[in-house]
Amino acid sequence: MNTLDGDIKKILLTEEEIGERIKQLAQALNRDYCDKSPLFIGILRGAIMFLGDLTRATNLPLEVDFMAVASYGSSTRSSGVVRILKDLDEDIRDRHVVLIEDILDTGLTLNYLLKNLKTRQPASLEVCALLVKKERQEVGVELKYSGFEIEDTFVVGYGLDYQERYRNLPYIGTLKEGIMEQGMD
Ligand code: PRP
Repeated sequence: MNTLDGDIKKILLTEEEIGERIKQLAQALNRDYCDKSPLFIGILRGAIMFLGDLTRATNLPLEVDFMAVASYGSSTRSSGVVRILKDLDEDIRDRHVVLIEDILDTGLTLNYLLKNLKTRQPASLEVCALLVKKERQEVGVELKYSGFEIEDTFVVGYGLDYQERYRNLPYIGTLKEGIMEQGMD
């Protein structure tokens, strides 16, 4: 057992479960964008795994771009403050855009991003999020594609971090209590 696995209290979604759900999402995207060349925008950094696996599961002539925003700071809770750290390289005017997020928590990040991107006049703009914390949502975000609803608990793995670690776990799980209390080196 490596040290990352040893820090996990409970696995909420296995690698297989995530993979199966991604196949289903990819089928829906293949169908909905069958006659289009969409631009998938990954929101760094958490969405990297999801974007990689989702795009490989589709057979669309899609393009990818990235944005980086900050919403959490270093804490485990959303602050509501959204800053763009890296903007898109592509012009999205008249493009069919799909925003790819790892998790919708309060919804503040996506709400801000959607408003911002709409002003750039894309032909269409949809959201695909792997995880949704329904109870936590403070603003309604229209979510056309979503993977799993999860409870309000802090999760890591498959792109999601705690103090920048655990993103490379292939599954999604919760951390043992001691890990979050003691902090990291
Ligand atoms: C996470 C996640 C979303 C946001 C969701 O990003 O990737 O962007 O928080 O929270 P919200 O719905 O409450 O706004 P984070 O700031 O942790 O950055 P990261 O993706 O680089 O880990």
